[in-house]
Amino acid sequence: MRYCRPVKQDENALCSARQGIHKFGNSSCKIPAINAKMIYNVMQCNEKYWCKGCVEMGETKRIFSGIQPSGNITLGNYIGAIRNWVPLQDEYDCLYCIVDLHALTVRQDPKELRERSRSLLALYIACGLDPEKNTLFLQSHVSAHAELAWILSTFTYIGELNRMTQFKEKAEKHSDNINAGLFTYPVLMAADILLYQTNLVPVGQDQKQHLELTRDIAIRFNNIYGDVFTVPEVFIPKVGAKIMSLQEPEKKMSKSDENPNAFISLLDTPDVIMKKFKRAVTDSEAEVRYDAEKKPGISNLMNIYSSVTGKTFSEIEAEFEGKGYGEFKVAVGEAVIETLRPIQERHKELMDSKDYLDGVMKAGAERAGKLAFKTLSKVYKKIGLIPRIL
Ligand code: AMP
Ligand code: TRP
Repeated sequence: MRYCRPVKQDENALCSARQGIHKFGNSSCKIPAINAKMIYNVMQCNEKYWCKGCVEMGETKRIFSGIQPSGNITLGNYIGAIRNWVPLQDEYDCLYCIVDLHALTVRQDPKELRERSRSLLALYIACGLDPEKNTLFLQSHVSAHAELAWILSTFTYIGELNRMTQFKEKAEKHSDNINAGLFTYPVLMAADILLYQTNLVPVGQDQKQHLELTRDIAIRFNNIYGDVFTVPEVFIPKVGAKIMSLQEPEKKMSKSDENPNAFISLLDTPDVIMKKFKRAVTDSEAEVRYDAEKKPGISNLMNIYSSVTGKTFSEIEAEFEGKGYGEFKVAVGEAVIETLRPIQERHKELMDSKDYLDGVMKAGAERAGKLAFKTLSKVYKKIGLIPRIL
């Protein structure tokens, strides 16, 4: 079995990708990633050592995912996405992006967008993503995303984009601003993923269709030009994959919902969280029982409760047998408040440490930029563009 974990710097260990040539910490190393700053990220894998810059040459699989800074991120984002990313950081080479360019497909207030992007970075860290183990960065800081998106748009068919359900939903919601970016959104997402030779993409169920399109584009390109892109796999967590709106439980919980009672923001105060759960839409029965079809509201609350307490549905049904919805809602509210408390505290500390966050952003963009540039150069060459003379 493959064994892979980050280890502390060992001056005498040789990077397996460069065995016999370079030692960790050797300033003359030709691979830019191997410098004093990157040494903390040595990985041990099958008794071999890989420095982060060489990881793609080793066996460690790469993960990429992203969230839009288009609103305060929700409990749905946490349960369906970020929380599942944390345990991956010790086993994979993970890149987590704040996809600010994607957020532009809906009109944004510039000041708010800047604040939300920063706050999302702080939330990534507060939720447990260690910036020393993961590459955390802003999409707009690596220009290769927009550049590759253009190229890939010439390998994507209008018919394919027309089939995207997220586009249809968003076009309906923002009928006054159905811009071309909203339509080509999945192409930019494909660029995000393919730039990093990503193996796995952890996302919620709703993103599966975009992932399938990404795979189709990668395969189409590779069929013409040879193996340029790694074809990524979708990685959907089993529990709590889709958290629904508290007001319309047939719809997913979304940070851009006009009704703030429909979602729990990770930064909502305990009072607000409790109020929102108390107002959650349920049904006219009085039985806490899982039935996603007939009792979507209660089933969603059970899903949330199960995700934050680890209890199974039958344990929850037994716990609330003979008790009313009121009591159940309070229990869900309390469990969520306790889960979010440490995250909110850490978030606040981080938002007060501007220099630290700036440093994380810079280091993330540097590493991501190097990896992305490598793929982009390969693509340019394959399709007949003259590589830039540096
Ligand atoms: P978005 O908020 O649309 O940028 O989504 C960011 C990530 O969170 C994606 O992986 C989504 O699939 C996931 N996500 C968003 N909303 C939910 C939800 N209500 N339940 C589960 N996962 C979600
Ligand atoms: N489209 C995703 C969403 O709305 C966000 C996203 C953009 C993304 N680029 C990505 C997710 C790349 C995973 C990988 O949730």
